[in-house]
Amino acid sequence: MDKKELFESRGQKQVFRFWGELSEEERANLNSQAAEIDLEELDKLVATLVKGGSGQASVDFSALEPAPYISIPENVDTDPDWQEAKRLGEEALESGKVAAFTVAGGQGTRLGYDGPKGTYPVTPVKQKTLFQVFAEKIQAARVRYGCKLPWFIMTSDVNHAATVAFFEENKNFGLAEDSVVFFRQGRMPAVDHDGKIILESKGSIAMSPDGHGGALRALDRSGSFQAMEDDGIEILSYFQVDNPLVQPADPYFIGFHLKSGSTLSSKMLPKAYEKEKLGHFCVLNGVSQVVEYSDMPDELCALRDPDGQLSFRAGSIAIHVIDVKFARSLVAPESTVSLPFHRADKKIPFVNEAGEVQKTDTPNGVKFEMFVFDSIPFASNPIVIETTRLNDFSPVKNAEGTDSPETCKADQIKLFREWFTAAGIEIPSDYDKAIEVSALFAYTEDAFVEAWSKKPQELDFSSEIYVG
Ligand code: UTP
Repeated sequence: MDKKELFESRGQKQVFRFWGELSEEERANLNSQAAEIDLEELDKLVATLVKGGSGQASVDFSALEPAPYISIPENVDTDPDWQEAKRLGEEALESGKVAAFTVAGGQGTRLGYDGPKGTYPVTPVKQKTLFQVFAEKIQAARVRYGCKLPWFIMTSDVNHAATVAFFEENKNFGLAEDSVVFFRQGRMPAVDHDGKIILESKGSIAMSPDGHGGALRALDRSGSFQAMEDDGIEILSYFQVDNPLVQPADPYFIGFHLKSGSTLSSKMLPKAYEKEKLGHFCVLNGVSQVVEYSDMPDELCALRDPDGQLSFRAGSIAIHVIDVKFARSLVAPESTVSLPFHRADKKIPFVNEAGEVQKTDTPNGVKFEMFVFDSIPFASNPIVIETTRLNDFSPVKNAEGTDSPETCKADQIKLFREWFTAAGIEIPSDYDKAIEVSALFAYTEDAFVEAWSKKPQELDFSSEIYVG
């Protein structure tokens, strides 16, 4: 049975309704899109997520508890647990067991920037792009730990070619060619509210990336898991493309992961206020999981401990350390579990009966996405450790307001000012210009203090300051 017949027999005949008008090339394109679609999987998603209400597994909120986490001690430098973690993390980095992994396949609709998000200029003085910031941090870690620290970057159809071209134009920001690996995530078709696959043009299905949780399938399909195993990589340091403050090779985090025998660890931030839009680390009947902010009842968001802190304060910032073996086991053919899909209602341009492309002001269809944090319930001893905003989290999500380029630049400047203070550099009280430190000079406060003591620079506080 060819694809056309198959789709017709499965109630999706609208996909091929303009077949007679398509050129050979358009037909080939439509056929290859159709080949990407697992109709059995789609039927199940339509039955559960589209026709069966939201279909998300319902949570028994009365049994939900806040997840425990490892909090930052008063003095990290003298805390035996944190120091042991650091040592273990450094050993893992030095022995080449760690790879950096960035998910960069998203569409970045909220930012509204024309291009892959990683090519967005984000630093306060030099306007370096997100990708350059990560490249410099990775390069700094490679030098510091004398390791390969390969960098895996997941793209999607929407931005793959532009991302690869951007790295080529910039000569990989000095990183060896074979140490940066790009692979494409999978796609899912969008359907209307009756479960019918939507055509975005006469010869093309409306398809979109399958969510950051699609990373696991894509790592497998692209051969990246195998390449990691061949290279002795056991641990992935996972982060999102929109967060330039992240530490892509944090020895404390990696060390706690190893020390506790966890297979998937996460960083948390105490939520700044009740309704802050971060997922919540929770435990339900002994199983760890993240409950999305949109699913969390207001009463639980507002619940407080006797000392006044929010009870469900552990906010997820999408920074994880993941065992390669564990991630691989989730997508192996013999795996008995799989990440669930979530439903997102979207406005999706479509072709009408007459073959004209139409836009809509109200959501007319459903996209399906998987989330990486849905692997947490399947992990062994999935620990959570605390971090601080300036040391790890200031994402660029929106064009304006919270989590925007402006707030992110302000946070970077705040962090670098703290480093200056720690190194004993006096900043004039009326200094209000930008400061930027290249990760190639230092990318943690300790490293900055050390580097500055060896190589102090003349600073001119009459203009912006760049330490590189
Ligand atoms: P977001 O949830 O912020 O989505 O992604 P987005 O697509 O970047 O932006 P909006 O919602 O359209 O404005 C968080 C991270 O997950 C990656 C993104 O690239 C970002 O690093 N991601 C998201 C993927 O890699 N693939 C996806 O399918 C979705």
